[in-house]
Amino acid sequence: MLLVGRPNMPDRAAFMGRIDRMFDSGRLTNRGPMLLEFEERVARIAGTRHCIATCNATVGLELAISALGMAGDVIVPSYTFVATVHALWRQGLRPVFCDINPKTHCLDPDSVEAAITSRTTGILAVHMWGNTCATHALEDIAQRHGLKLLFDAAHAFGCGTKKRAVGGYGDAEVFSFHATKCVHALEGGAIVTDDSDLAGRLRLMVNFGFSDEDTVKHLGTNGKMSEASAAMGLTSLESMDAIIAHNRRNYAAYAFGLQAIPGISLMSRRMNQQHNYHYIVTEIDAATAGLTRDELVAALRLENVVARRYFYPGCHRMQPYTGLFPQAGRTLPVTEEIARRVMVLPTGMQVSEAEVEQLTSRIAAIVRQAPAVRAALAQCHDPRLPPFLRQ
Ligand SMILES: Cc1ncc(COP(=O)(O)O)c(C=O)c1O
Repeated sequence: MLLVGRPNMPDRAAFMGRIDRMFDSGRLTNRGPMLLEFEERVARIAGTRHCIATCNATVGLELAISALGMAGDVIVPSYTFVATVHALWRQGLRPVFCDINPKTHCLDPDSVEAAITSRTTGILAVHMWGNTCATHALEDIAQRHGLKLLFDAAHAFGCGTKKRAVGGYGDAEVFSFHATKCVHALEGGAIVTDDSDLAGRLRLMVNFGFSDEDTVKHLGTNGKMSEASAAMGLTSLESMDAIIAHNRRNYAAYAFGLQAIPGISLMSRRMNQQHNYHYIVTEIDAATAGLTRDELVAALRLENVVARRYFYPGCHRMQPYTGLFPQAGRTLPVTEEIARRVMVLPTGMQVSEAEVEQLTSRIAAIVRQAPAVRAALAQCHDPRLPPFLRQ
């Protein structure tokens, strides 16, 4: 079975060696030595002065939103994993959904500027698929309007321009080190920033607000990363170059295999970008392919390939947002179109170039026989079909 999101398994002996050292040290959490080393390495790669490791990116986003003092309305894309928007709502903020650039799938600066009102206090942008946002335009908008600017960089560890890594843009950025990410810590996240005051507040907030053993100086939570996660994070970091090289080879195999298939386009990677190639993002033009994206996803399930409809249907069509803002789709034409077209295909260390070649041949065969595939799907009761196509 080929599926999106199978974890990259780092070197077992190296990981177990670290776990042995964790037992020997007697430190399981609360800023142990492996956590400190992990924070230092992440900050070095991101090119920032500070890194605060967290138990996951969702809590990292909530902490950063709160530490930045965002209030009222915050501009955010709807085309993102729902955690981005939940983080705002759970901190008592109102998400204002803005549309995206159809090429990068990141926030469109013109839509952002048009959505600013007197209630807006910040922008939460997402480096979607590891594509660097229009950072300069967003920084310029934030500065002119006196807004906080936070980046959800969950996908973007190891990404950036050739000159500058993702990490130091805006007021802060938040990485995810979830098991399905390129580099991971089982579960984990990190907030990176060059702002020392902000970093100081975040260090308190990630540990209930404690500044020493019995002084609480700030509202806080338990957002800490454990030593076991840091051990996995350090081990995973050691494989980072090999993972990215493998992903890049898979990307090239997809580009070659998909190029001649009508109606299927692979998201291009800009030459001036550093990329982790962690997501294989395709768009399906149903009129040309003869099958909708959903039919193609379903046909692949019957071949034991789990492709995903990320980030369908867009957060504005998920609860609680669809109930709160039922008209939001009207101002999000690109989001709605992209959410209908995108299909993400499997990659990572557990997917070989040969498997990619076989998969692209299967996709070509499915598209060649599109009318017959469509007719067969309409009659099909196979339990492997995704729920959205089951009869
Ligand atoms: C864009 C985006 N933001 C936030 C998150 C949440 O990350 P985590 O699972 O580390 O909380 C994810 C997770 O995949 C994501 O894709």
